[in-house]
Amino acid sequence: DWIMGDYIAEAVEKIRAQVGKEEVILGLSGGVDSSVAAALIHRAIGDQLTCVFVDHGLLRLNEGDMVMDMFVGKLHAKVMRVDASDQFLGHLAGVSDPEAKRKIIGREFVEVFKAAARTLVAQGATNSGANGSAVVKGATFLAQGTIYPDVIESGGAGNKKAVTIKSHHNVGGLPEQLGLKLLEPLRELFKDEVRELGVALGLPYNMVYRHPFPGPGLGVRILGEVKKEYADLLRRADAIFIEELHNFKDEASGKTWYQLTSQAFTVFLPVKSVGVMGDGRTYDYVVALRAVQTSDFMTADWAELPYALLKKVSGRIINEVRGINRVTYDVSSKPPATIEWE
Ligand code: XMP
Repeated sequence: DWIMGDYIAEAVEKIRAQVGKEEVILGLSGGVDSSVAAALIHRAIGDQLTCVFVDHGLLRLNEGDMVMDMFVGKLHAKVMRVDASDQFLGHLAGVSDPEAKRKIIGREFVEVFKAAARTLVAQGATNSGANGSAVVKGATFLAQGTIYPDVIESGGAGNKKAVTIKSHHNVGGLPEQLGLKLLEPLRELFKDEVRELGVALGLPYNMVYRHPFPGPGLGVRILGEVKKEYADLLRRADAIFIEELHNFKDEASGKTWYQLTSQAFTVFLPVKSVGVMGDGRTYDYVVALRAVQTSDFMTADWAELPYALLKKVSGRIINEVRGINRVTYDVSSKPPATIEWE
């Protein structure tokens, strides 16, 4: 609508005034906030923006390709994709404590991002001055998708957990370490406004209204030690669950079960149970489906998904994902259970 159109025009002008002819780096995660920030900044300054997308090997099925298709394929933005899966999985080998896993993933993320950012900052040394002022310089700005609630949380008033949760994204001290100035165009917006802005900027509805996904990704949805084999099985099972949540509609409200839940995902349990398939016995892994309804993620109810949906999902996972022969549904609310299993 026209109000959002005005808002975009104003925000674009502000970004242009702040950035001038300088270069900007942005850490793109594929989540709502960084995606909308990237789209807005790209609208304002085009190729002066370079996004860095770190693939830690713990993303959902095809997630990296989807981010690239959108930002490079459709928006024609510059994106540096860093495949660091081996590095992350290597450091996670043998580690099963949830907080230890989070620390490793957070630390590696910062390392990989810093290394990528440094190459972009250093480009100034080789490129600038070649023919005057308008050439490609090294980056001088770090853009972040910080939104208003993040600003309040990190102001000290917020609770400790909320701050920790954000620690992989709003990597504290990074601008100083890299010698970069901060660019945070979403600082004044609430989540709903960020979503509206994203749609107005042409981002797909499914990207803008996606459930939240934790920074450590599948790293905390594979219980205990993380292995590539587990991640590959989990990705396929989870994609089936999410697909069917989109397919099933609630008659009364006309909404899909994806829309009716706040967060839904699959958890990989590294235990084997016996099953039967055809004439043979199977001895394979178990997954748990988790779906919750909540307004603030501090408390949450397990979602009363229709049996028909659960039946469809379990049938598909067991038939289509060889290696998983049992599907369970988590009927625990928060508190005392948490939303994630780790
Ligand atoms: P819990 O499991 O604590 O989750 O009930 C509440 C919300 O926080 C998300 N979550 C995380 N997000 N890094 C994140 O970025 C994390 O380490 C992390 N742990 C939990 C969780 O997905 C849910 O939305």
